[in-house]
Amino acid sequence: MPCFAPLCVSAWLLLLALPARTSALNESVDVLVLLPHNDSYIFSVSRVSPALEYARRRLSAGPFAGVNFTLHYMNSNCGMEALFALVDVPLDKRPELIMGPVCEYAAAPVVRVASHWNIPVISAGALASGFSNKQPEYALLTRIAPSYLKMAETFAAMFAHFGWMDAHLIYHDDKEERNCYFTMEGVHILLDGHYDNVAFAVDPKDSAAHFDEIFKIMHSYQVVIMCLHADVVRDVMLKAHRRGLTNSSRLFFNIELFNSSSYGDGSWRRGDKYDDEAKAAYAFLNTVTLMRSTKPEFVDFSLEMRKSQQKTGVDNCEGCNDINMFMEGFHDALLLYALALDEAIKSGHSKKNGKEISHRMWNRTFEGIAGQVSMDANGDRNGDFSVMSMTNKETGTYETVLNYFGTNGSFQIMPGFNSERFILRGAPKPPTPEPTDKSSGGLGLSAATGIIVGGLLGTALLLGFYFFRKNYRITVERRTRRELCDGKHRQLREDSIRSNFSAA
Ligand SMILES: *[C@@H]1O[C@H](CO)[C@@H](O)[C@H](O)[C@H]1NC(C)=O
Ligand SMILES: *[C@@H]1O[C@H](CO)[C@@H](O)[C@H](O)[C@H]1NC(C)=O
Ligand SMILES: *[C@@H]1O[C@H](CO)[C@@H](O)[C@H](O)[C@H]1NC(C)=O
Ligand SMILES: *[C@@H]1O[C@H](CO)[C@@H](O)[C@H](O)[C@H]1NC(C)=O
Ligand SMILES: *[C@@H]1O[C@H](CO)[C@@H](O)[C@H](O)[C@H]1NC(C)=O
Ligand SMILES: *[C@@H]1O[C@H](CO)[C@@H](O)[C@H](O)[C@H]1NC(C)=O
Ligand SMILES: *[C@@H]1O[C@H](CO)[C@@H](O)[C@H](O)[C@H]1NC(C)=O
Repeated sequence: MPCFAPLCVSAWLLLLALPARTSALNESVDVLVLLPHNDSYIFSVSRVSPALEYARRRLSAGPFAGVNFTLHYMNSNCGMEALFALVDVPLDKRPELIMGPVCEYAAAPVVRVASHWNIPVISAGALASGFSNKQPEYALLTRIAPSYLKMAETFAAMFAHFGWMDAHLIYHDDKEERNCYFTMEGVHILLDGHYDNVAFAVDPKDSAAHFDEIFKIMHSYQVVIMCLHADVVRDVMLKAHRRGLTNSSRLFFNIELFNSSSYGDGSWRRGDKYDDEAKAAYAFLNTVTLMRSTKPEFVDFSLEMRKSQQKTGVDNCEGCNDINMFMEGFHDALLLYALALDEAIKSGHSKKNGKEISHRMWNRTFEGIAGQVSMDANGDRNGDFSVMSMTNKETGTYETVLNYFGTNGSFQIMPGFNSERFILRGAPKPPTPEPTDKSSGGLGLSAATGIIVGGLLGTALLLGFYFFRKNYRITVERRTRRELCDGKHRQLREDSIRSNFSAA
């Protein structure tokens, strides 16, 4: 075997150095994993656990072999079960780490109790803006997936860069998990105060009932941002196209972060007689999604995940075999914890010092399974997002045209990018957005919504601080159908008020 002496020596040194390093760590770590059993969630136990097991195997073969992770899976559902699972753990069996929950209303009470007990929580969920205020209630929460506010930075950056002026936000509000409500809340918080914007809630059970009003409002807005079910997006695009609203003075976006099968090639296609029309309409629709990056390790990870999914039979439906952000996130969460624990112990802290370990997970960058993961100083992951657009109108295929990097706030322009489309006709292009009030100068409708939006700013701030103070779901859900019709585009504000004051 050709082996040069210096190489052999260094190889031997490496072999000697590794065990020497690991022997320093000899810890067993109990991890409580709180995820739903129900496989209708893309972050169910059967989808995410293979990723966690994969991470555990990798860690035990590497420099963290001295850490013995024991993963206890409990059903969190999306409600209070997560909290009950945590408080039912006997005092002497309390975990050193909690993974999850993902759903906002399940995560809020768990994170509060865990922070009080000095147990770190890492979640690839809990993405709502309310969780950004870590002190004091969510002090030990680390978010390993980019939050809705991070996603909204993509919009704020595009508005500033391309000189757009106003936004019409349309979102589904199911009054239960409220994913689209929280998604849009992020966009609203970042745009508000700089750009005229109106938020419009749509009842998912009866989306079509709102269409007339949606299109009336849409006339006065340049940028339409939607968080709606894929079929409703198609309906909106078809109707907007028929009404002549899809032209060069307006841009449409939908936000689809997690389910990669519902965007991209042929998302307009349903096999019905409207396909051609939909394809023409979708030429004006752009999708904001998480940036996908791959590296060699990721291929291996994907293969493993697919294998275990086939074994459990959890995913038979087309397209949902894709690795999603929750699998990646929880995988990387275990890595990040191991890094922080290692440091904390080497600096003389115990594994029970949750605060110390949490803070060592923040403000750092490390290599995750799909690429570099950058955590900000507040314990939230910086996000990279892609804007996808139709680049071939004949075939109706989509491509990434723009990437946004949250770490440095910069854009990467891709070959398919067409600036004509993003610079709106009739819109002046100021280099930076003016913070002055421009909502009052518009047409009647803009002025009216400007006032509504002004009221929103104060409540949005309050909302940030008090959002999860209490489980206010019941109050919010008890809204009558009549109220829904009366207060349509005031809804975001009403909900904030209700949530604040019902909490008192
Ligand atoms: C690790 O610690 C346990 C007790 O906490 C002890 O029984 C065991 O021998 C230790 N292992 C090593 C390799 O030091
Ligand atoms: C799983 O969730 C779906 C949708 O929320 C629901 O329809 C279904 O009944 C749930 N299944 C179980 C076993 O709880
Ligand atoms: C890891 O911990 C589990 C339970 O705490 C124990 O059964 C197992 O033997 C430990 N493994 C090692 C390698 O220490
Ligand atoms: C686009 O449509 C709007 C009506 O929705 C109209 O006011 C505007 O002039 C049109 N712009 C162009 C460039 O055709
Ligand atoms: C993802 O989107 C596709 C297409 O819209 C849909 O059929 C599928 O049910 C979605 N999956 C989940 C888990 O929401
Ligand atoms: C984050 O880390 C950098 C160095 O990596 C340091 O300069 C900075 O002060 C840290 N920020 C906080 C808030 O800890
Ligand atoms: C921003 O960060 C990305 C990836 O982290 C990098 O590729 C890009 O070059 C950076 N851009 C600038 C302007 O620093």
